[in-house]
Amino acid sequence: MSWQATILTLFPEMFPGPLGLSLAGRALGGGVWSCQTHDLRQHGLGRHRAVDDTPFGGGAGMVIRADVVDAAVSAIQAPEGAPRVFLTPRGRPLRQQDVSRYAQGPGVVLLCGRFEGVDERVLEARGIEQVSIGDYVLSGGETAALVLLDACVRLLPGVMGSDESGVEESFSDGLLEYPHYTRPASWDGRDVPEVLLSGNHAAIAAWRQKQAEEITRERRPDLWSAWLDRRERNEAAAGRSGQSGRTGV
Ligand code: ADE
Repeated sequence: MSWQATILTLFPEMFPGPLGLSLAGRALGGGVWSCQTHDLRQHGLGRHRAVDDTPFGGGAGMVIRADVVDAAVSAIQAPEGAPRVFLTPRGRPLRQQDVSRYAQGPGVVLLCGRFEGVDERVLEARGIEQVSIGDYVLSGGETAALVLLDACVRLLPGVMGSDESGVEESFSDGLLEYPHYTRPASWDGRDVPEVLLSGNHAAIAAWRQKQAEEITRERRPDLWSAWLDRRERNEAAAGRSGQSGRTGV
């Protein structure tokens, strides 16, 4: 059974888009995952197939109707247990751990909004999670859905070339990744850090760990303090179970 992406959108032509190319495209062609779009407009009302209406309480923009979304959610055939996700800047931030959970399941149902948003009642009533890909506003949820799918598909078994590149990367242990270098060893007056040419694997690993820590502390104080907390907790736990290296006096 392949991993199934089901997308509810007013712009089905946007899929698979860039995910039809490269690694994800090859996996799509090979049946590792499938991408089914469902046009929300099909469930629109009246001669113009309207999917939206003005917001109660006034204000700018239009809101996608609960009955339209409900009809679309009922019409699709998604695998049992596939999470339903509405992409919105109001959602909780998407994290690598969410991506990993989605990738381990049977697939996802993604609801892409345009306009001001979607009537909150259908999100609550149909168990649709609200997820944001970052603190900026896109013109619609489709590009956010592509981002979420890209992050999931690369984790599906057999998609990524080298298994290692999935493990030792930014976020997998809570730190940003260390910097990378390749030939030439000297370029534009800049030399590759000498330790990387030393062949000393322990020294290289230590240098990379230190770089990862420094970069995370500088660029992402939020990740850094979470990592420090985790390290402290782990050290305390190791101490309690007698793994601290104490002599026992
Ligand atoms: N739709 C518009 N902006 C978005 C964002 N930042 N994340 C997810 N969906 C969105």
